[in-house]
Order: sequence, then C-alpha cells, then structure tokens
Amino acid sequence: MNLIQQENQHEGSTDWQLTRIRLDKNDGFRSPSIEGYCSRQSLKAGETLDIFVSARPAAKFQIEVFRTGYYGGKGARLMATLGPFDGKEQAVPEVGAARLRECRWEKSVSLPIPENWVSGVYIGRLSTLPASPDQPYWQSYVVFIVKDDRKADILLQCSDNTWQAYNRWPDTFSLYDNGDPGWVSGPGVDVSFDRPYGKYRQIYENPQSVGSGEWLCFEFPLAYWLEQQGYDVSYCSNSDMVTPGRGLKCKAFISAGHDEYWDVKQYHSVTEMRDAGVNVLFLSGNAVCWVSPFRDSSQGVPGRIITRAAPYGGLARQTKFDDLKRFKDVAPGPDEGLLMGAINVIPVNGGGDWICTQPDHWIFEGTGMKAGDSIPGLIGWEYHGDPAKIEGLEVVAEGTAFQSGIHPQHWTATIYPGPKHNFVFNAATIFWAQGLSKPPGHMIPWSHWNRPHGPDKRVQRITGNLLKRALR
Ligand SMILES: [Fe+2]
Repeated sequence: MNLIQQENQHEGSTDWQLTRIRLDKNDGFRSPSIEGYCSRQSLKAGETLDIFVSARPAAKFQIEVFRTGYYGGKGARLMATLGPFDGKEQAVPEVGAARLRECRWEKSVSLPIPENWVSGVYIGRLSTLPASPDQPYWQSYVVFIVKDDRKADILLQCSDNTWQAYNRWPDTFSLYDNGDPGWVSGPGVDVSFDRPYGKYRQIYENPQSVGSGEWLCFEFPLAYWLEQQGYDVSYCSNSDMVTPGRGLKCKAFISAGHDEYWDVKQYHSVTEMRDAGVNVLFLSGNAVCWVSPFRDSSQGVPGRIITRAAPYGGLARQTKFDDLKRFKDVAPGPDEGLLMGAINVIPVNGGGDWICTQPDHWIFEGTGMKAGDSIPGLIGWEYHGDPAKIEGLEVVAEGTAFQSGIHPQHWTATIYPGPKHNFVFNAATIFWAQGLSKPPGHMIPWSHWNRPHGPDKRVQRITGNLLKRALR
C-alpha cells in the first residue's frame, strides 16, 4: 500500500465545510467576522506554520485543521483542533506601492507540522465561539500545502499563484484592479500572499470558497479522484517549482485547473523536467499565460509577492487585445506553446464541448469514443488555442468554443513526445477535473452560458490511460 492509500484508510470527517459565512457586504469578498492567512504557501513536516487571524468584533475562536483527500467519499480528515484563542481585530494594511496590500498581523498560533502529516492540501476552518447559543457563529478557511521530498509517482501542482492573482481582499486589490473601473490585465500591480483569500470572485458565487483560494473549485475534484483511485500523489505550490528538483523525483507532473500565472523559473523547471523524462499533464486551461515573477515580502520571506510582468510568447503574438498593448515595451516570456503543446488565446472567456478527433489514439482506449463524439460543456471557461509546431505533436481533440458565450474560437487538445519516451499532454480546459469527480464541498462551475456536467467515465478513462502510460 502506498502512502496515499494508507492515509485514506483513516476515517474522514462529515463536518468540514463552512456553514455560516458573513461577507462584509452583499457583493463583498472578505469576511471580517473571522478571517486569516498563513505564513507560507507550502511547507514540509517538521517545519512550523504561523497562522494569523482577525476577528471583528473581538471573539474567541478555534481552528480545525483538515487534510483534503478522498477518505471513503467524505473528502477531508480532521487532523487537529487548535484553540480556543482570543481573537481581536487586526488592521487592514495601507495601500503600498503598486497597490500592494500586505498584512503584518500578530500571529494567532504557531503550528509545527507533525512528521506523520502526509503531503496534501490542508484547510484550517476558523470558527468563532460565541459566549451563548443565542449568538451566531462565523466561519472561514485558511489554506496551506504540506509538501515532501519522496519519490512520488505524481506531483500535483496547486495553481495558487492564480488563486492569489484573483484575490480581491479586502475589496478591489486583485491583479486585475489597477484603480480603473472594470477588469484590467496590465503591469504595475502587485499582490501579496500575506492576506486572507477572499471569496472566489471570477465566474460563480461560491461562499464555500472563502479563505481557501480556488482549491475547492478547480483542483480538488482532481485530487479527490486521484486519491480515490489510489495513486501515489504528492502536492506542491506554484512557488515550489522555481527549481526542478521536486519534479525530477516524480514520474508525472500535473498542472491543474486555472494555472495562469507562472514565474519564468517555473517554465524552465518544467522544461528541464520534460527533457529529463518526466511526463507532463496540463489538465488545465489558460495555463502559463502571464509571466509572474516572485518577490520577497517586506519581511524578507521569499516568494510572497507576485506581479504581472509580461505575457508569455504565444499570447504575446495576439496583439489585437487592448491589454497586451500595455506590454509593448516589455520582452515577452518564452513561448508557452513549446511547453504545453498549444498556445493561449485572448480574450478567452467562454465554453464549448470537448470533441474527440483522433479516436484511434491510445489516450482514448476503452472510452468507446468515435470521431466527433463530444463531452458536453467540458471546454471552459478558459482554454488553449492553436497547436505549436513541435515534431510528433498530435491534435487529439479540437473544436469551437464560444468566447463570451457567442463568438466562435478554436481550441485544441494535444499530445507530443518528450525525449525519453515520455509525453506532454494538454487537455486545453480549466474544467477537465470537473469530469473526474464531484466531492463534498465542491460546486460545479457555470460560466458564459456554458457548464460541464460533472463526472464522466470518458474523462476518467482518458486520465487513467495517460497516468498508466506515465507511471509505467
Ligand atoms: Fe484566466
């Protein structure tokens, strides 16, 4: 039995979701009654995590730490209950240079990660503890990743740069807010990991997400399925990929969900991994779109600030998009198509059906799919466009997505060989994991008049075929 199978023998928890979430206003993002953040995106067992919490008004609170996984279908396991603590209001920081909002809160607790906590994505449920039952309690999450160094079969990279890029906390301070009205994809805005994650804010109303980034929306159905199937999976943050060392110990590397923001060092790491024989699966969409270098926090902690510095090379060629003119004096990053197999398109918000075009390819074995068969709504809400010119590259699925719900746009799913009998697969859609499972605490997304249907045997089989080849 591998480590993940052993871990999933433990009893899951039936109560790990948020029940009572109070946002600061009806269309707000933050939950000032109770909110918090962690000192690190990821850490190893034996290292110590600091958790920072604010409660307004002052209130006692507790933190229940859960590891998310399969656990017989329950989706999470209670690892520790911390507290009670005396919570107090902590200050919303001043707006810094480049609109940075960096909290410097007093820490509420230091949590040394026990040696037996298995790599995974952990959520801490913050709950206020009212003095009497006639007062309401309030909840939100904090999120962190426990990583390790073992030779795992699969390394699942969380798209936490993207979670932070879209985090508006406290109100209009995401990478898309430069002070002008509307969404702006420009340079000159910084975001910090030293602040709570607000409610997921891009395509659907998901109060369950408050404090947990986008994990429960887009990556969790993949992790839940992998652990259900008994795969040996280890987890890491985008920030762990600035060097290739972790990935070189694994047979397959997965980019998951909405993986839009990569430091160029991540690009070089994954390229080096591919060239060394690691199989790479982009079960993601709009991936490797913007160059987002990491910077130290003002306290000198590495990798705690990101910015949108430049488009990647394939994206940069699509000069008709107004926001790209903001980068005309900046050198683009390397061509993402040469890593993924297809390039980004812009604008790219929409959806469509995922259509098989090469049914004889081994990835479709056992699916029963014929040319033209489609998986409804699986493309969305962001996807990859034209294939790159790479020797041996095959387009295995392609079709029309409807940008903004109505404008036709071409997408392609691709696979190409690496130099060591390995491969790079590009599913071309953020929604891929929606076809794998529907765990507790997860809400199926809906965007631009298009929706995926949830678990689909064909998506499961294609993913299984890819992993079977990758792990042999
Ligand atoms: Fe995106």
